[in-house]
Amino acid sequence: MIGVFDSGSGGLTVLEALIAAMPDRDFLYFGDHARAPYGTRSAEDVYRSTLTAVDFLLDQGCRLIVIACNTAAAVALRRLQQTWLSARAPGARVLGVHVPLVEAITGTRWRDGAAVGPMRERPRRLAVFATPRTVASRAFTTEIALRAPTIRVIEIACPGLADAIEANANDETLDRLVRGFADRLRDHPDVRDGIDAAALACTHYPFAESAFRRALPPGTDLLLQPRLVAAALADYLARNPDLDSPGTGRLRLLTSGDPARLDGLLERLPASLRQFERVALASPA
Ligand code: DGL
Repeated sequence: MIGVFDSGSGGLTVLEALIAAMPDRDFLYFGDHARAPYGTRSAEDVYRSTLTAVDFLLDQGCRLIVIACNTAAAVALRRLQQTWLSARAPGARVLGVHVPLVEAITGTRWRDGAAVGPMRERPRRLAVFATPRTVASRAFTTEIALRAPTIRVIEIACPGLADAIEANANDETLDRLVRGFADRLRDHPDVRDGIDAAALACTHYPFAESAFRRALPPGTDLLLQPRLVAAALADYLARNPDLDSPGTGRLRLLTSGDPARLDGLLERLPASLRQFERVALASPA
């Protein structure tokens, strides 16, 4: 089974795209709802929770795990890969959803910086909407600058947005919140001439896609992560057949929280993505 992990329900936007692209693979999703949101917690705290979740998915037999949480990926993935994973599970691989997004923005391949074609026009000014912890990590600014230094990246932290989505806030509330973040972008000194593109760099935010479309200037190219991640994972599996195994389209959804509290938000998703089982996870090591 391919493991997919998020702090809560945001990773389901990615999972839905993964299943659509690879309907015959088996997926195991884990949402750490008991500890969500991650986006306002310390980097150390996010690292420990991510490690605990990945450890759990390895125990469940996943050899390939997608961290479908930008906060966890930005803060914890490199450290986890460099210090822990090779001893814990030498043959396993853990991938982060920020990678395909940075590749799409910069038009370059993450691992060697080679151009990927056909090259879309690079934005001159790009807004990245993400959680406060992701923005504090500077991961998007740093990784984009390494590959495409001409792109001016303006990161906008969106405190409270993932929580509101998780609480199944109505459109009016999401509009109000997102308008506030779009105003902060508009008032930014580097944005006098507008922006060309905006990336939703939190997997919860596709649930608020319409609010972003309403709040951003017309014509802004909105980069959505789920389908980029799905295309990247399909490509990864084709290049790494040893990590791939044909499945039968099985799906298991696990949460560290209370499945009954997820009902409202999950109604926005296909019925197959609503059947959560509760698991008790040890506190982060
Ligand atoms: N969905 C997560 C992300 O992509 C974070 C939401 C949160 O727990 O704050 O960043």
